[in-house]
Amino acid sequence: MANIIIVGTQWGDEGKGKIVDCLTEKSNVVARYQGGHNAGHTVVIGGDKFILHLIPSGVLHKDKLCIIGNGVVVDPLALITEIEELKARGVAVMENLKVSKNAHLIMPTHVSLDLSKELKKGSKKIGTTGRGIGPCYTDKASRSGIRMLDLFWPEQFKEKLRANVADANYMLGQFPDTKKLGADEIYNMYMSYGEKLAPYVDDTDITINEAIKSGKSVLFEGAQGTLLDVDHGTYPYVTSSNATAGGAMTGLGVGPKCIDEVLGVAKAYTTRVGEGPFPSELMGQEGELLREKGAEYGATTGRPRRCGWLDFVVLRHAVRVNGLTGLVITKLDILDGMDKIKVCVGYRYKDQLLKDFPKEMPILEGCTPVYEELDGWTGHTTAGVRSYGKLPQKAKDYMKVIGETLGIPIAIVSTGQDRDDIIYS
Ligand code: IMP
Repeated sequence: MANIIIVGTQWGDEGKGKIVDCLTEKSNVVARYQGGHNAGHTVVIGGDKFILHLIPSGVLHKDKLCIIGNGVVVDPLALITEIEELKARGVAVMENLKVSKNAHLIMPTHVSLDLSKELKKGSKKIGTTGRGIGPCYTDKASRSGIRMLDLFWPEQFKEKLRANVADANYMLGQFPDTKKLGADEIYNMYMSYGEKLAPYVDDTDITINEAIKSGKSVLFEGAQGTLLDVDHGTYPYVTSSNATAGGAMTGLGVGPKCIDEVLGVAKAYTTRVGEGPFPSELMGQEGELLREKGAEYGATTGRPRRCGWLDFVVLRHAVRVNGLTGLVITKLDILDGMDKIKVCVGYRYKDQLLKDFPKEMPILEGCTPVYEELDGWTGHTTAGVRSYGKLPQKAKDYMKVIGETLGIPIAIVSTGQDRDDIIYS
């Protein structure tokens, strides 16, 4: 199979985990390139549910190499916990997982800073997952971060840690209620994590390039989504990494020429967790209905997701900035039983009709959605349908509108939670 990037086209939680799991069958390597354990990828196999936060969803298949790239930020305890939990359920992790030496480590200070900064922001908070993601990427960009490889150079690690903790405690000085950890305490904890993770640590840039050179196919697993990308999302209400397709290059150390396809994953409607603008959000009963039917509660934090109609302004932006070659529509079955389905075709801002996603926050916040209404497929179901021909006609019409509006083919449709509830075109 080809080398494919799987990327979220909305605000994350599009169901990428399941799609990666399904496509892994035909791939040799699955690689994560950004984010950290803020992600929550749910995969259901024969009724058994797995929620993966850091380890690529491909690990649930035998004999597939799984890579956590240099662009990912790793909380070592979260990784060890995930490894142990998977092992306890019979998943072969030891043989198949490699973690980049260059991946930056989330430290306890990052978590304290994340939580304290959010508290300080009050009503302007981002609504982060509180996992220390932003402060860890901040240290990486300001060249004071600590990487996986540092765990194996104890003296160097101690020195870097002292400087890092001193900086963090200085900033945390503004928050008298925050517990401050000493460098020695963290040192001992992290050295023990290093021992446990040593078998997995690798020059993943070399490993992945050798795999590609020898003809193996790679799935690049994006986390979060396009509108949460630090450059192309609803800044500052974003995560701190490049969730878009470009992040796969820098986050793993591969060149763009090795990519054959970029598949964008979109829910048949839209959700967002955390703060920030969301033009097609449904505030009343319709939103509640989508949330309950779609079980729209965060896989990482359990927070209720905000729900709304499918938004073509968002998706057009995602097609453009990711160079999408195809689309995957998930959770189509959640729209079963709806009499009418709306799609957002543009934004009204003052007397203008906007077709492109605005970058200016005051404009975005002042936009109202312009909808077109389509017929639902009441009386028919898409749940568990496994061939395109068996979809109700109105559901096919919905897929056609999406494909034609965005000008790219719909490659896959997901019609339920289980691995097998899927239609390939
Ligand atoms: P952070 O990544 O924890 O810093 O959170 C920044 C923003 O990204 C918040 O709005 C989070 O809710 C959101 N976010 C982070 N990871 C995910 C995810 O995997 N799915 C959906 N939203 C996410």
